Amino acid sequence: MENLSRRSVLTLGAALGLVTVTDVPKAWAWSSANSIAGTNTVTDPWDVWDDDTDPLVASLLDNGQIPAVNNAFKTFIKNGDPVPSGLPPALATYIGQVNKLPSWADQAKLDRAAQFNKRMSMYLFLLYGLGSGIMSTVIPREARNVYWSEGGADMKSRAAKTFTYGYDLNTPDAFKATGNFITTSTKTRLTHAAVRHLLPQSAAWRGVTDHPIPISNGDILITFHSLGTYVHSKLVEWRRYGLRVSAAEEEAYLHMWQVALHLLGVRDEFIPATWAAAHEQSQYALTPILAPTREGIDLADTLLNLTSSVDLGITKGFQREFARYVLSDRIGNWLRLPRDLISRGVIEAGWPTYIMFREGLSPVMPGTFSMFDHFVRGLAMLFLNNGTSSSHTPITIPTMNRPG
Ligand code: HEM
Repeated sequence: MENLSRRSVLTLGAALGLVTVTDVPKAWAWSSANSIAGTNTVTDPWDVWDDDTDPLVASLLDNGQIPAVNNAFKTFIKNGDPVPSGLPPALATYIGQVNKLPSWADQAKLDRAAQFNKRMSMYLFLLYGLGSGIMSTVIPREARNVYWSEGGADMKSRAAKTFTYGYDLNTPDAFKATGNFITTSTKTRLTHAAVRHLLPQSAAWRGVTDHPIPISNGDILITFHSLGTYVHSKLVEWRRYGLRVSAAEEEAYLHMWQVALHLLGVRDEFIPATWAAAHEQSQYALTPILAPTREGIDLADTLLNLTSSVDLGITKGFQREFARYVLSDRIGNWLRLPRDLISRGVIEAGWPTYIMFREGLSPVMPGTFSMFDHFVRGLAMLFLNNGTSSSHTPITIPTMNRPG
């Protein structure tokens, strides 16, 4: 047999039914002419990881230095905090190099994004929580990686750490010296590098993966589309109910995510330059790979049950139906979310009128207003309280995989 590439072996495997088609990444055909870099090249992001970070973190793990790093990071919270003393010198140098905004970051746009996030906060909490969060469980690679990594065994703590990322991104000073987001992103980048070293050592993970190393640049882009691109499409869709989103705000919201992707180690040549380019990338990179997995079904149930800890003034059936409403019944069926058709009727009739009243387009308060308001505010509180009693659960670099 001639020198078959990994992709052609996988494609052949799919044709023979040895692996599922959804596990096979398509050849990358998205030209980087539409990226931040603007160069017309076609590098494959499925085979790009994080060369600046991965070898460094692998050696820290192998030398047993990560617990001390996590301890030192307790005082490394704000973007303006000095690099903690006592870190291994190579890590201190690395942090000095990466813990900052890219040269192309535009502070005026980031400020506009911060104002937009504040004005849209209720919708954002809902869409990130019930939309993006649950969508992540039908992204097969992500679901399996999250399930089989250390945090997969304690989803409450993991969700709290993810809330920290979202919370830090949404504060008015997220990208300034007094904010936390740049530092939180750097810790997340280091966490992803640790997962790249650890997961390949898990026999359970190796048994379900199609790719030798997790969390490539392509995988991170897919997750971005389940977050930023998905939320953008819903906000634009809800304009028909009176949501006001200006072109400048759309652009600023994209810019915020572009910077966030850079901080996670995604190369500029893969980061979409416009929403049109982002939606195009999402259409062929995210949409076709969405699929249920055993791990994802389990994670979705765990995540949806986490919100039971707060009183949202609604039933479990209503909450599951709302997830179906914002994500599609196709995804709801994959995740075996129970049906509650009465709640569905209430949502379909009531949610548009809730937005219209909230946005001042309708003078008449709908009868279901207080129910939706209680629900949306409850989700916001859950988010603001970080899913726990603490308001800020620090991100720590894992040192092991899910036991068992
Ligand atoms: C950890 C965010 C993409 C898999 C984390 C953490 C954050 C985060 C904040 C630290 C909190 C925690 O430990 O749970 C993001 C963002 C992404 C992204 C914003 C893209 C925009 C991905 C992708 C994968 C992935 C594509 C896999 C395909 C993981 C895993 C962990 C992790 C396995 C470690 C959980 C553990 O501690 O065991 N991510 N992530 N992430 N992420 Fe991501």
